[in-house]
Amino acid sequence: MFNIGIITASDKGAAGQREDVSGKVIAAMLKELGHVASYVIVPDNQDKLQESLIHMADELQLDLILTTGGTGLGPRDVTPEATLAVIDREVPGIAEAMRATSLAITPRAMLSRAKAGLRKKTLIINLPGSPKGVQECLQVVLPALEHGLAIMKGETSECARTE
Ligand code: MTE
Repeated sequence: MFNIGIITASDKGAAGQREDVSGKVIAAMLKELGHVASYVIVPDNQDKLQESLIHMADELQLDLILTTGGTGLGPRDVTPEATLAVIDREVPGIAEAMRATSLAITPRAMLSRAKAGLRKKTLIINLPGSPKGVQECLQVVLPALEHGLAIMKGETSECARTE
């Protein structure tokens, strides 16, 4: 079981003007992977997002942080920038897989600039903001997450596949 953080990037959510359905979808889908140790709703502000990411990674030492929202083309969409500013190493295949699979569902998938990467021993993954987008993207990455996190934590170096 891994320790997980959820960050919802939403001006309306942070102001209490919109219910955060997407954060709840993430929590429900990750039940078997781990325990949600921290969940925050933050406005679309790069400094605030970076602060939350660094707090969850460095102080809470969470294994996995999922963000939702702020990956698009809007002037206040800055989640990928906040993520790139705090990670040490990118994991491009995660975002590539989400976009590739999602493109078969909607051409709008190409509008997400989502990133994924490592800050020391914390994996950070950006997801789009809509509950549907979250569900479709998490479904793509979930089958690889347990193995990826185990390797990240140094718990295994074995890549023997059984499937
Ligand atoms: N990816 C999937 N799988 N399903 C979706 O519905 N929505 C797209 C895209 N990625 C979507 C998706 C849309 S409409 C947008 S604008 C971008 O994600 C960015 O969303 P965000 O700004 O809420 O993060």
